[in-house]
Amino acid sequence: MKKAQLIASCEQHRWYAIARDPARADFLIDTNEYVVTTGEDSLLCDPGGAEVFPAVFAALSEVIDPRSVRRVFSSHQDPDVISSLGLWHDFNPDIRCHVSGLWAGFIPHFGCGADTLVAIPDAGVNLTLGERELQLIPAHYLHSSGNFHVYDPACKLLFTGDVGAALLPDADCNLFVEDFDRHIRFAEGFHKRWMGSNTAKKRWIERVRQLEIELMCPQHGAIYRGEDVQRFIDWFDDLQVGYG
Ligand SMILES: [Fe+2]
Ligand SMILES: [Fe+2]
Repeated sequence: MKKAQLIASCEQHRWYAIARDPARADFLIDTNEYVVTTGEDSLLCDPGGAEVFPAVFAALSEVIDPRSVRRVFSSHQDPDVISSLGLWHDFNPDIRCHVSGLWAGFIPHFGCGADTLVAIPDAGVNLTLGERELQLIPAHYLHSSGNFHVYDPACKLLFTGDVGAALLPDADCNLFVEDFDRHIRFAEGFHKRWMGSNTAKKRWIERVRQLEIELMCPQHGAIYRGEDVQRFIDWFDDLQVGYG
């Protein structure tokens, strides 16, 4: 079963990764979910698909009160990211999901009603959690046309959705990248195919090079920490992706 593991703790924020689900069906891509919490208030980032909702809910409930999850962040519209939203809405009808307004007509197909969605403007926005801000920063076309990442300046943590994702063999179950050169081979094909635009990639790189990042947390694969964050950004900068 999935487990929630503490990955960062700073001032009021604690970040947990809910990762690695050996019990999931083979045909499902493995996903990482992240929750940032003050204890009383929590934001769940990319809550995952309907198929993994029971495993995510159980793991999350081991570390926080699930009723503290009043807000969800959805980096983009994919089913592995947000198709559990209808089930979260059944649990808490007042839950709100922050997502690009491009997806306002699409995500309600997952059974959550239109009132649940709060549109993130294209330029991004800040959300307050406790007394500190979280920045929802644009990452459009990486890979979705309406796409955002979450930066927590207090914890120096960047949640990057599908950017940084690696499709790891089951044997590679470490939560953190341990050997960058080996790891990145499992990320290369994914980024070449799923990231559509070198222009969008350059724009994102210019933006994130200005941030202080100690942990870079993707929705699939392992977490980059310390110098591996910069290694990833340099590697991605050099990679030719998509159709130009
Ligand atoms: Fe995706
Ligand atoms: Fe994904």
